[in-house]
Amino acid sequence: MTTPRKILVTSALPYANGSIHLGHMVEHIQTDIWVRFQKMRGHECYYVCADDTHGTPVMLAAQKQGITPENMIAKVREEHLADFNGFYIGYDNYYSTHSTENKEFSREIYLKLKANGKIAVRTIEQLFDPEKNLFLPDRFVKGECPKCHAQDQYGDNCEVCGTTYSPTELINPYSAISGATPVLKESEHFFFKLGECADYLKKWTSGSSILANGQTQAHLQPEALNKMKEWLDDDHLNDWDISRDAPYFGFEIPDAPGKYFYVWLDAPIGYMAAFKNLCDRIGMDFNNWFSVGSNTEMYHFIGKDILYFHALFWPATLRFADYRAPTAVFAHGFLTVDGQKMSKSRGTFITARTYLDGKLNPEWMRYYLAAKLNSKIEDLDLNFNDFISRVNSDLIGKYVNIAARAAGFIGKRFSGSLCDVGNSALLTQLSAAADIIAEHYEQREYARALRDIMALADAVNEYVDANKPWELAKQDGMDTCLHHVCSELINAFHILSVYLAPVLPKIAVQTAEFLNIPALTWANSQHRLPENHVINTYQHLMHRVEQKHVDDLIEANKQNIQAAPTPAQAAPNAEYTPLADTASFDDFMKIDLRVAKVLSCEKVEGSTKLLKFLVDLGFEQRTIFSGIAAGYPEPEKLIGRMVVVVANFAPRKMAKFGMSEGMITSASGNGQLFLLDVDSGALPGMRIG
Ligand code: 2FM
Ligand code: ZN
Repeated sequence: MTTPRKILVTSALPYANGSIHLGHMVEHIQTDIWVRFQKMRGHECYYVCADDTHGTPVMLAAQKQGITPENMIAKVREEHLADFNGFYIGYDNYYSTHSTENKEFSREIYLKLKANGKIAVRTIEQLFDPEKNLFLPDRFVKGECPKCHAQDQYGDNCEVCGTTYSPTELINPYSAISGATPVLKESEHFFFKLGECADYLKKWTSGSSILANGQTQAHLQPEALNKMKEWLDDDHLNDWDISRDAPYFGFEIPDAPGKYFYVWLDAPIGYMAAFKNLCDRIGMDFNNWFSVGSNTEMYHFIGKDILYFHALFWPATLRFADYRAPTAVFAHGFLTVDGQKMSKSRGTFITARTYLDGKLNPEWMRYYLAAKLNSKIEDLDLNFNDFISRVNSDLIGKYVNIAARAAGFIGKRFSGSLCDVGNSALLTQLSAAADIIAEHYEQREYARALRDIMALADAVNEYVDANKPWELAKQDGMDTCLHHVCSELINAFHILSVYLAPVLPKIAVQTAEFLNIPALTWANSQHRLPENHVINTYQHLMHRVEQKHVDDLIEANKQNIQAAPTPAQAAPNAEYTPLADTASFDDFMKIDLRVAKVLSCEKVEGSTKLLKFLVDLGFEQRTIFSGIAAGYPEPEKLIGRMVVVVANFAPRKMAKFGMSEGMITSASGNGQLFLLDVDSGALPGMRIG
């Protein structure tokens, strides 16, 4: 057993005005796996989260529904909780930022910051929507990024270049609520003097903590530290505006009627509030965890987009309010689906609810995402073909089948009783991997952990194939041998289940029931089920993913499509932004664009994305795969039409489907794809240019 640690873990608090989608699930699954792992190791670990309930978007959404914000957030919290429970996210407390604890902490922290000279009051000019009579929150002002000139960027930061700025710096701003051009209006605001915290933050961001077990933990991942350095080294640390004017849904600032704490002030404090609520319920001393010098650990799992808040604002807030700082912040990348940003129109903006209602097994997704997760801040792709094949081949083919193959013989031939497995080389090999797999989990290198576990599962399956229990069962006098082989396999399944338990918590529970043992702990990986131990009848643990599950899921999500933006929401004064360097005539002539006629076009079995075309280029016919299936549900209707083909596009092998001998061009935007057309009279093979 390793030295016991006291660990508090959080995931970012989801906003109370939107549904939980697979993007959230990446983070909450990543966190949940880590927490379950720590608990299995015997550490005292708590996992808290909450709904992030305050701010103008929540206020406006409630208004739109004709209900109070309090009613709306209560309803949404129930939905969020049901979604997370559906994916077996095991919070110790899922709370709300609209709580008495959070109100008290927010006020207390604010007053401490003030007493420590870290609050300034300044009159500022802010963008105001003259139609809605409302100061516009950063996210409700859009416009052109002042740095990279990307269009339609939010008022707080640019999603293209990552720059953080104030909404007044946006070029050609517009109100995302009414479309009106905002006007500047004066108002008194409260600021956290972050600029004065630069020295502390330079130290904290590049520093590390020594854990109770003596190990060192860097506060930030190297990529995150580099990003923070960009702000800190260039003295880009502006004071932080922590107040908002009424009307606002949030906590009023003490002694400042009509002024409210900005949602991002009380959101991370919501971590403390959720934990305090838990402490009070279970009789634990909160101060032991949050006072300066505490020997407990605190980790925040977050998306890369909110690093600034967690790696700068939050540690500084804690420090200057006389609380301990986080042990580390663990940021992850974004989820893409089939290589692209999640898209409502393509049906790839997948909500947790449609997944669960579609009867897809949550452990499929937990396993798949874990198989892609590592400790870096990298985006990860959900590729549905890969999802189907990986889940079926790893979980069903390699893992669950081990139990299925051995349990029947143990039940029927040996009354469920196991024999002594002695010094099994196979089991010794499996047990020996415990430390390295544990280290992978500890370091959030889940992909590596699962790769090692599946390599062990391969070894077990080789053992099955070498010993063929189904043949032993037919031979006279081989009962002892059959008993031994199957007992070894049940033990092997036990150890593999321990290693997979953080990822597959439901199967872990079912396995403990099947094996007739208490809940699995990491230490079980070193144990053998004893001689004469009786196991229960095997119940099938998991079924295969079928293409239809995925197709139905995508279809269900397409039906959730929200209305396209109205002109008032669209960007006015959009300017040309080049997508590539200037192309000379010679550059352009390198692309051999030709007219082609579609001879056949069909869906591709095993792919939701691809259509298979046979096109006539005049000089030859070619097969081309194109990822436009979502936009053309009846591909046969494309037969006979002309398309534009890049004829000298390097041939590409399309996974298992075959070679693609060119590219069919299409326009894309608003998540949709449109084939290009050619006027009548053009013939296959004609050059375009
Ligand atoms: O970005 C978001 O979804 C925020 N609601 C996260 C808040 S995390 C924490 F600071 F509360
Ligand atoms: Zn930008």
